[in-house]
Amino acid sequence: MFEAINLINISGPATLVFGKFQDAALSERVLKHDVGGVIEAAVKRGEFSGAVGNIVEAFVSVPAASGGDEKGAKQGKKEKKNKKHDAAPSAGAAATTTVRVIVVGLGKIEKFCAGDLRTAAAAVARRLHAAKESSAIVHFASTLEETKFKSELDLKHAGRCVGEGFGLLTWNNQVFKGKATEKAKRPELAIEIKNPKFAKGVEFGMALAKATNLARTLSETPPNIATPKFMAEQAKALAKESGGTLKVTVFEGKDLETERLTGHYNVGKASENKPCMVRMEYTPGGGGAGSSKKKNGKPIVLIGKTVCYDTGGLSLKINNGMVGMKRDKDGGCAVLGAMHAVVHAIKPSVPIVAILCAAENSISDEAYRPDDVLTYRNGVTVEITNTDAEGRLVLADALCWACEKEDPACIIDLATLTGGVVTALGSTFCGMFCEDDALRGKLEAASASSGERVWRLPMHAEYKDMMKSPIADILNSNPNRKAHPIQGAAFLAYFVDEKTPWCHLDIAGVHSTDADSGPFVKGPTGWGVRILCDFVANW
Ligand code: BES
Ligand code: MN
Ligand code: ZN
Repeated sequence: MFEAINLINISGPATLVFGKFQDAALSERVLKHDVGGVIEAAVKRGEFSGAVGNIVEAFVSVPAASGGDEKGAKQGKKEKKNKKHDAAPSAGAAATTTVRVIVVGLGKIEKFCAGDLRTAAAAVARRLHAAKESSAIVHFASTLEETKFKSELDLKHAGRCVGEGFGLLTWNNQVFKGKATEKAKRPELAIEIKNPKFAKGVEFGMALAKATNLARTLSETPPNIATPKFMAEQAKALAKESGGTLKVTVFEGKDLETERLTGHYNVGKASENKPCMVRMEYTPGGGGAGSSKKKNGKPIVLIGKTVCYDTGGLSLKINNGMVGMKRDKDGGCAVLGAMHAVVHAIKPSVPIVAILCAAENSISDEAYRPDDVLTYRNGVTVEITNTDAEGRLVLADALCWACEKEDPACIIDLATLTGGVVTALGSTFCGMFCEDDALRGKLEAASASSGERVWRLPMHAEYKDMMKSPIADILNSNPNRKAHPIQGAAFLAYFVDEKTPWCHLDIAGVHSTDADSGPFVKGPTGWGVRILCDFVANW
């Protein structure tokens, strides 16, 4: 795939890209380019269904000196008027060249939503790559303007989806290929978008994709490289790029005991790769005079489960259930990715605190064990019944830390917490637990605009009762597997102040995909980066 897709002004001939609705004629703007009627003929071919992402091609003749666009358009008009439906240059005209035209289906007008443009843009980029093209002028805005997508807001959002589609497709999944593989070439692609509002959206979408791709690369990074310390270094590197808006503190070693970060300390202690809690603080404007945290209000707190490897601990994972557990850090990867977009593209006016709960759940004679009892900083005691229910133990530290120390406006945690949520919702929806109507409304709005789907699962006192222990206050896993994902959320609820709006997102089903689809390839999806970005941008 392309190494990068760059938004520039193209000089010289370039591929032309148009959209077409299944149930509407080609737009006026497209027809202006239709030298010899070849585009109209192409969309009538049986291979073109008009479904979202379906593609057909034609070749039009344009003056060699033109960018394949404006001058070509004039010529197209003239030829149309003269009903000369051949691709040959007009008599006496300058030398011509042939450019590729790609028409991509946008589905039925009634069903169309901007999110379909992620799929359409990705299909276009895949085609351009296969055709070894290096530049294209993308004309989606004109076709959209002929529908209900008229407002500046709509056009910007549509552009953003196109930018996401292009950007997500550039994710490099060959980083860990070595000398024994002939790596596919990764050329660059130049894209021109004439409509300035649409182009602004595309730029924003590409920034979101870049942040998502960072999360995906971190997810892909194997556990012998991506240790808790490595994750902390990633946060520090981001702070360096932030121009002073992001500050990082890492709690490690003795800090974990003095700060009573019990879950981190215990879950992580068996591994040579020692645990840490990484706290990032984004201050609007960089924390100088006039931009104090107080002035901008209470912070949004984002928490990510960052279990760099989950062996299950002494309750060891069996039957190959361990493979893929390098991705048990994907909650943290998503939070870090979102912070990348926060400091580089969104720069919101609200302060944000992001916490990564980084540990490796390993085994050794120092491992925590089933039957241990842990005492948390909020006084809650936990009987360990299963060391494989470790995610909730590290998250619990961050949740009570945030409630006690951060004066949060709200808390959102993301975690690959339970296999049960994969059984319940597959990879289609993320499991959402949120009892605060206002916060849930905001997250649902962010879900709609980012295309990252959430489905609410219930909470009830009976679920919290399921977590009670005969020995300590609560246990970390009820041997009865009833309502498994809800048990995880119910456990976490013991560590959140009732007054604090809180949402737990169980991303175990959505953080990776087993098949190429739309702008994604098999592997990590970076799920969470974009919903968090929309959430903080619209706070
Ligand atoms: N990291 C896993 C959950 C998971 C499963 C993530 C599949 C991604 C894909 C978590 O730590 C875990 O092991 N959960 C157990 C909990 C149980 C032992 C209480 C589970 O869901 O089975
Ligand atoms: Mn586990
Ligand atoms: Zn885990």
